[in-house]
Amino acid sequence: MRDKRSEAEGAGQRRDPKRRERSSFSITTAIPYVNGPPHIGHALEFCEADVIARYHRLQGEEVYFLTGTDEHGTKIVQTAEKAGLPVKTLIDQNVKKFQDMLKQFGISYDDFIRTTDRKRHWPSAQKLWKEMEKKGDIYKGSYTGLYCVGCEEFKLEKDLFKGLCPNHDKAPERITQENYFFRLSKYSKKIGQILKSKKVKIVPEFRAHEIIAMCDRGLEDTSFSRPKEQLSWGIPVPGDSSQVMYVWCDALTNYISAMDYVKKGKKFKKFWPVDVHVIGKDILRFHAGIWIGMLLSAGIPLPKAELIHGWVHYQGGRMSKSKGNVVDPVELADHYGVAQARYYLLSEIPVGLDGDFSYALFEAKINSDLANNLGNFVNRVLTMTQRFWNGKIPKGKSLSVPELKKFWKGYNDAFQDFDHQKAAQKMIALVNFGNKFIAEQRPWEMAKEPKKSKKLDIVLGKMLQLVLHTAFMLVPFCPDKAELMMKSLGLEKSLNAKGLEALKTDKLLAKKLQVPDLLFSRVEKERSWISKDEMKTSLPALPLPVSEEAKKLNLPIVAFAMTGLKPLGTSVEKRLKKEWEQWIHDLRFRPEAEQKAVLEIIEKAYHLNHSLGVPRTDIPGNALLQQFLSDPTKKIPFINPLVALYNFVEAKYGFSLGAHDLAALKGDVWLKICDGSEHYLPLGSEGLKKVPKGSYAYCDDEGKRVLCWLEVKQGQETAVTDKTTQVLFVVQGYSGIKLEEIQKAADELKGLVKQWML
Ligand code: MSP
Repeated sequence: MRDKRSEAEGAGQRRDPKRRERSSFSITTAIPYVNGPPHIGHALEFCEADVIARYHRLQGEEVYFLTGTDEHGTKIVQTAEKAGLPVKTLIDQNVKKFQDMLKQFGISYDDFIRTTDRKRHWPSAQKLWKEMEKKGDIYKGSYTGLYCVGCEEFKLEKDLFKGLCPNHDKAPERITQENYFFRLSKYSKKIGQILKSKKVKIVPEFRAHEIIAMCDRGLEDTSFSRPKEQLSWGIPVPGDSSQVMYVWCDALTNYISAMDYVKKGKKFKKFWPVDVHVIGKDILRFHAGIWIGMLLSAGIPLPKAELIHGWVHYQGGRMSKSKGNVVDPVELADHYGVAQARYYLLSEIPVGLDGDFSYALFEAKINSDLANNLGNFVNRVLTMTQRFWNGKIPKGKSLSVPELKKFWKGYNDAFQDFDHQKAAQKMIALVNFGNKFIAEQRPWEMAKEPKKSKKLDIVLGKMLQLVLHTAFMLVPFCPDKAELMMKSLGLEKSLNAKGLEALKTDKLLAKKLQVPDLLFSRVEKERSWISKDEMKTSLPALPLPVSEEAKKLNLPIVAFAMTGLKPLGTSVEKRLKKEWEQWIHDLRFRPEAEQKAVLEIIEKAYHLNHSLGVPRTDIPGNALLQQFLSDPTKKIPFINPLVALYNFVEAKYGFSLGAHDLAALKGDVWLKICDGSEHYLPLGSEGLKKVPKGSYAYCDDEGKRVLCWLEVKQGQETAVTDKTTQVLFVVQGYSGIKLEEIQKAADELKGLVKQWML
């Protein structure tokens, strides 16, 4: 006789021998800055931590799942100032948005720590500081460096890309400060060894290499405090009221402050060291470098693992509010359902790597995995048990399915490796197995033959067992839907570790069987949001806004946006280059009167700039082109197809033309008169250039970021490259030139772009 136990016993977790004697599991997420509401990247991180926490709870472990908010960053104050709100009001508003989102997504956190919590967090942060100080690891020094407010971090020149922070596409500020430093350099070797030996396991492994290499080169001491005037609401440095803690020193401590590190109370004893920190790839350096260094210094045990997720990309790039291509998780879950949003993030974004989001991918995944496969499977099985068994399992029926063991092994192994994507695939593989089983057995035909009634019972029993196991596997991913499934099996109270235990021994039998309400419906055309994928970015307001002062210049401007362009630098370039030479030739030999009319327009550009105090040596772009045209020995450079097209129109009309990568624009673009504090990053340059006071410039919403100065041209920050597919074109004339003239040039440019690049 077969041992029934062994068939389903794979349902239990494959236990890690290290934790056999321990039935607790702890997990944390990074604590997000609350300068804005949560985005889908945050949702991914919360869901990843939640799926792991729920899995471990289902294994009967006592789980402590910690999340919270990071509330002392410089960016938060800047945002509050911009919004005209007291910092506290802004923080509280955004903390609520995060908490609402956590609730909506069913994130089963056990604790929420805020870094402004003076009772729980501050004493811990100060205690940790003192411990590090006792070890001689905190010292005072002066530092001049490039600070990126977005990262809340000093950057080295080598960290920058073309002078900009690669995470924020923004030039950091040079600041000098008298600060306390943490002697991280002392721990370089040790941290390197710890990572190499996997004492702290970095998942995926390849992410550790970068940090190991940094340790081999030697980590630099890190500034750990800020002058109080800069961050007045920060945590005071013990023994020096003129300084507050650096936001990362403060924030990293959250992991232990929530667990009552000060008193080393019950929580700390039970849950520290944490089993896994879930974080994004951009903050690995802090967690695998600084945090481990801090813990080593203070003699605190190290986390066991760090799970590093990648970025969620949308429309081919990183989402950012400034690009206007943010997917709002709250809106997404409201429209499609929480289970659907969770399932997509957990099953489609590869663990540890960057992944794509698009409404098309999202809907395809829901329709195939959830509606067609899983939903249909459950529905068919329960409909048939209604029909053929009258909604009750006949007594003494065997429900064993030997294949289950294999599915559970794959599922459990995946969770041991923190690979929930693989676990989801195992669950879907089980569903596919069930659907195939039904198709092969054809129970509806068996039901027609009384002789086959015994066989029918076995088949139905197996089908039901498969549904039951699927429900358990679904719990960590879509707990609400798993509950609905269990309700249909009359077992809603068994959806817990005890139930899973009973499932292992085939003791868990479905009671009153009911066909569930529609588990997952297909996303039909009327409900589809696929068209949103087409809207590449939120377009700046058109016509472009002009500041009151700049209005006095009376500049006629026509701007238009084009999206969905063919990426540049392909065969278009080859063909266009040939044509380009012909165009230039024709322009060089156009009638003199036409030439003269263009030069008159350019003279207006000089005149305008002169009246604003801009020296004539700063030659307008359109004049530069004319100089090239007047000297046939000079070859006019062909930078890329888009630039060639607008240069052609510019040279033909004498107006100023420019093109900017829409994806790199932050909000609206407007024309303003500079007050002298604005910066401009000239094309191909790495250094910022100040824009002279009184001159006019095109800026994006931040005001200080000048896209182009002196006519409309291009600046490095928003320059069109061979990856650009969406562009804002600006055609600008001068006082006294009719708007229709400008429009004509704009239309010609639009036609050319359409012809070559759509
Ligand atoms: N406050 C710090 C974390 C301190 S932890 C001691 C911080 N906050 S954050 O709001 O910028 O990011 C919070 C988490 O979200 C980080 O793990 C970060 O990697 C992650 N993500 C932020 N944007 C993301 C995407 N677009 N995609 C995926 N995750 C991203 O860093």
